[in-house]
Amino acid sequence: MPKVLVVSNCPSDNTTKLQNAVVKGCAHEDIAQCKVRARIPWDANADDVLWCDGIILGTTENFGYMSGAIKDFLERVYYPCLELTEGKPVALFVKGGLDGQGAKTSVERILVGLKWKFIQPPLVMKGEFQPAFLRQCETLGTTMAAGLEAGIY
Ligand SMILES: Cc1cc2nc3c(=O)[nH]c(=O)nc-3n(C[C@H](O)[C@H](O)[C@H](O)COP(=O)(O)O)c2cc1C
Repeated sequence: MPKVLVVSNCPSDNTTKLQNAVVKGCAHEDIAQCKVRARIPWDANADDVLWCDGIILGTTENFGYMSGAIKDFLERVYYPCLELTEGKPVALFVKGGLDGQGAKTSVERILVGLKWKFIQPPLVMKGEFQPAFLRQCETLGTTMAAGLEAGIY
């Protein structure tokens, strides 16, 4: 039974929809009984990271960087998790206004330090909000949950 932690900042309706789509994807009917814990970053901590088999991070791009909320989360979990979570499967989705690369690379840098293992390249969504973003996020959730269930990650 895979356990997935979804931690993403949701400052807007669009970003809340993205988080919900990821959670929906994790709970795909073809995956036996995936347990999903969805948190906003301020409410998530190292115990949540240790609990899960895989983690999906989501952030907006703010000022060319990850959101302050996700940065705070990563700062709080970094040292408590460092020795315990090497190889943790991770996926990242980024919601930018016009860009998103700064948020992507800033998270990637920290995850290199944590030695978490990306299951796929980060999903970067930018420009006008599109229904395709929801499908992509749903697929991301399903990919993580199905891969964990199958023992691929
Ligand atoms: C303070 C602030 C800084 C932002 N900086 C960037 C930025 O550097 N690059 C970018 O692509 N979008 C930037 N944005 C846009 C946010 O990424 C965007 O509002 C967020 O993804 C939510 O998307 P939505 O407006 O579709 O709900 C910024 C937004 C805020 C509030």
